[in-house]
Amino acid sequence: MLQTVHTIEALRNAVSLAKTSGKRIVFVPTMGNLHEGHFSLIQEAKAHGDFIVASIFVNPMQFGENEDLDAYPRTLDADSQGLEKFGCQLLFAPAANEIYPNGTQSETCVNVPGLSELHCGSSRPGHFTGVATVVCKLFNMVQPDCAIFGQKDFQQLAVIRKMVSDLCMPIDVIGVPTSREANGLARSSRNGYLNADQKALAAQIYATLTFCKNSLVDDVHSLAELKIEAQQQLESQGFKVDYLNFACPTTLAISQEGDRNIVILLAAWMGTTRLIDNIVVTR
Ligand code: PAF
Repeated sequence: MLQTVHTIEALRNAVSLAKTSGKRIVFVPTMGNLHEGHFSLIQEAKAHGDFIVASIFVNPMQFGENEDLDAYPRTLDADSQGLEKFGCQLLFAPAANEIYPNGTQSETCVNVPGLSELHCGSSRPGHFTGVATVVCKLFNMVQPDCAIFGQKDFQQLAVIRKMVSDLCMPIDVIGVPTSREANGLARSSRNGYLNADQKALAAQIYATLTFCKNSLVDDVHSLAELKIEAQQQLESQGFKVDYLNFACPTTLAISQEGDRNIVILLAAWMGTTRLIDNIVVTR
């Protein structure tokens, strides 16, 4: 049975009760509009503990001024049903003033330097500070033993892992492989902004990442050549590429020719929708 709470006090009471009865707390933070990708995180959570807490909070601090904060889909009833079906025990769904009682401007922030400025961070300044701040606050509210995140947001996961390590948070952070549609499109709440034609075309993102992966394994192109070719492929399909970068999977620093472990990080616009995806290559 799923219990839903909206205040930090009620959350803490419910989590304390679970801890008192010896339960290991696993936390799955989300912004709602849950899909199969999120439910795969809940499934994974069950392998890491016995009291699953999810949060649904569309965090204003991680949205830039001209981004989709207001348009971001809010589907609490359907989300609650899904969480219950997949065996989540507690849902924390706070209002913005519960998380930011003084607004977001005068808030203490968590800045994870370096990692936050690269890739998505250079297109979305302040985004990862917003993510790290809210995740830190949520961790302090829930005090989980373990937290689960999707690998689709590869850079976000790296930022959170560094925050947890740098701030000595006693939390195991688990990354879960990206959940994909049959055509390879990474599941994302933002796919809901795409029309049917755009959704079919969006499969090219994963096709291009797979092409890059195979080219790297077969060593047919230099990184520089491959980057140009992959960007051209996407642009010819109607995408506007924000970035396509080859990077070190741990530090996210730009790869050098000859590197063996690479993550290919990609962000591209399909119409007014910005999609991200990634693939890890070992050669
Ligand atoms: O990945 C998300 O849904 C969000 O960035 C997160 C981690 C819930 C923080 O708002």
